[in-house]
Amino acid sequence: MEIVTVVRPDAESASQVVADRFITLVKANPRATLGLATGGTPVETYRLLVEAYQAGTVNFEDVQTFNLDEYIGLAADHPQSFRYFMQQQFFDHVNVDPKRTHVPNGVADNVDSTCAEYEALIRDGGGIDLQLLGIGHNGHIAFNEPGSLLESRTRMVSLTDETIENNARFFDSREEVPRHAITMGIQTILEAREIILLALGEAKSEAVDKLLYGPVTDAHPASALQNHKRVTVVLDAVCASGIKQLADSL
Ligand code: F6R
Repeated sequence: MEIVTVVRPDAESASQVVADRFITLVKANPRATLGLATGGTPVETYRLLVEAYQAGTVNFEDVQTFNLDEYIGLAADHPQSFRYFMQQQFFDHVNVDPKRTHVPNGVADNVDSTCAEYEALIRDGGGIDLQLLGIGHNGHIAFNEPGSLLESRTRMVSLTDETIENNARFFDSREEVPRHAITMGIQTILEAREIILLALGEAKSEAVDKLLYGPVTDAHPASALQNHKRVTVVLDAVCASGIKQLADSL
C-alpha cells in the first residue's frame, strides 16, 4: 500500500495529527505498545500528549513503550541521554508505569547482549503497535545511518560526522557528542504494525522526498518504509513545499 502523506499548515497542527493517532490507539487498546522517538521533532507531540493526559482524554497506565535508540556512554541521568529526554518530555508527566518504559541501556557492560535482550523484550511484549519516527537529513531513521542493512536489528552503530554535527546543538560542544549509539534496526522498525513519521521544516524536504519517491536503497535508510504496508508521513507545509510532488498540490 502506498505511504499516506498528511500535510498541515504548521508544526503544531502537524504534531497534533501525530498525537491524535497515539490517543486514538491508546483509547482503543489501553495496553498498546508504543514505539517512541527523541530529537527536536517530537517535542511538540509529547507536549500535546501530556496536555491530553492532563485533560483526562487519554490514560497511559497500561501502555508499554520502546524507544528507538540511545547514545553509548550516557547514563539515564545524563541530560543529553535519550532516557533523560523521555523522562523530561513525557514519562514524568503522565501515568505510564516506569517499569513498562524501555530505552536501550547506553552504559551496559555487554552491548551485544543488551541489544539482543531489547529485541527479545519487544518480541515478548507482543511487538510494537505504533512506531513514531523522525528522519535525519541524511535519511537515517533511528540511528540507522546510510549503508545500514535493510534487514538490520538492534545493535551498536557509529554515528556519521553529519549526525554528530546536527546533534551537537544539544551538547555544549561537538566533542561531547558520543560517537556510538544503540539503535533498533531497520527490520526491527519495519516489524511495527503501524508507523508514523513526522518531519518539520525545509531542512527535511529532500530527505522526505527521497523517502517517498526515491528508490528503496541502503543509501537512504528511510526509503525502506516503502516496503511497509501501513505508514503515514506527516509534514508541515514548509517541509512539503520543498517536495515537488507535494508542493504542486498545496
Ligand atoms: C531519535 C532518532 C533520530 C531522529 C532524527 C531527527 O530517536 O532516532 O532518527 O528522529 O535524527 O532528529 P530531529 O528531530 O532532532 O531533527
